[in-house]
Amino acid sequence: MPEWLGLAGQRVLVAGGAGTLGAALVDGFLAAGAEVGVTDLSDSALAALDSRVSVRVAADLSQAPAARQAVGDVRERLGGLDVFVHCVGINDRRSIEQYSADDWDRIISVNLTSAFHTATEAVVGMKAQGHGRIIFFSSVAGRSGHKLHGPYAATKGAINQLMRVIAHENAEHGVTANAVAPGYMDTTLTRQYLSDHPEKREALVALIPAGRFGQLEEVVDPVLFLSSPRASFITGQVLYIDGGRTIV
Ligand SMILES: NC(=O)c1ccc[n+]([C@@H]2O[C@H](COP(=O)([O-])OP(=O)(O)OC[C@H]3O[C@@H](n4cnc5c(N)ncnc54)[C@H](O)[C@@H]3O)[C@@H](O)[C@H]2O)c1
Repeated sequence: MPEWLGLAGQRVLVAGGAGTLGAALVDGFLAAGAEVGVTDLSDSALAALDSRVSVRVAADLSQAPAARQAVGDVRERLGGLDVFVHCVGINDRRSIEQYSADDWDRIISVNLTSAFHTATEAVVGMKAQGHGRIIFFSSVAGRSGHKLHGPYAATKGAINQLMRVIAHENAEHGVTANAVAPGYMDTTLTRQYLSDHPEKREALVALIPAGRFGQLEEVVDPVLFLSSPRASFITGQVLYIDGGRTIV
């Protein structure tokens, strides 16, 4: 990992760090010499993480008090927070009339409510210390009107706007906020769907100018850069990492 990134010794919290993209990010931050804390839903998922992860907090981040408490706990145990990454998310593919009120509430609370409360709690300390990096996981679905993504797309579009407001309110305090918007990746979130609908993979690949799905490291490296002191003048941006999916 290039030293010029300047992530060595940075105190990083990855919410959702036990997931597919999250765990890859945790490995990336550890390789860059950062001190890493993770909060995620279950103790068993957290236990499987690299032994160098210094703080692990199990919490249902869709619940406001638990989300705020988890970020506060990790910050206290790391002795501060320089970087916060929100990498929590669920999806459930149906046409909009097939979602119940409970389905809607569940997706909104896991994807969006968790983002609001965790990032807000993280910003408090960053603002006080005069520096910080916030990275959200958006999606190409936050921009394009893909079918069967109603609540998910709504949360990702909302995360983009939440990110822009956080970026604006905190730029003068040395805190940047950005989002990455991956396209189609081969992860837990998509694997079940693609194995249930094998014909879909080919159809999706045909929509990507690069002609393939994204690899985990192609998301991890840009997130490390945006989290680093090198990205000090980049704020309020959504970075599409999608092999060109959103340009066609
Ligand atoms: N996989 C893709 O193709 C893709 C594409 C674009 C965006 N994204 C986004 O990237 C992020 C990570 O996705 P992934 O593919 O790694 O999925 P994943 O399912 O592997 O990871 C999601 C993580 O969120 C955690 N989580 C879910 N509900 C939670 C809750 N209530 N409280 C705490 N943690 C909870 C899960 O335990 C899991 O560790 C998500 O925001 C997703 O929307 C993924």
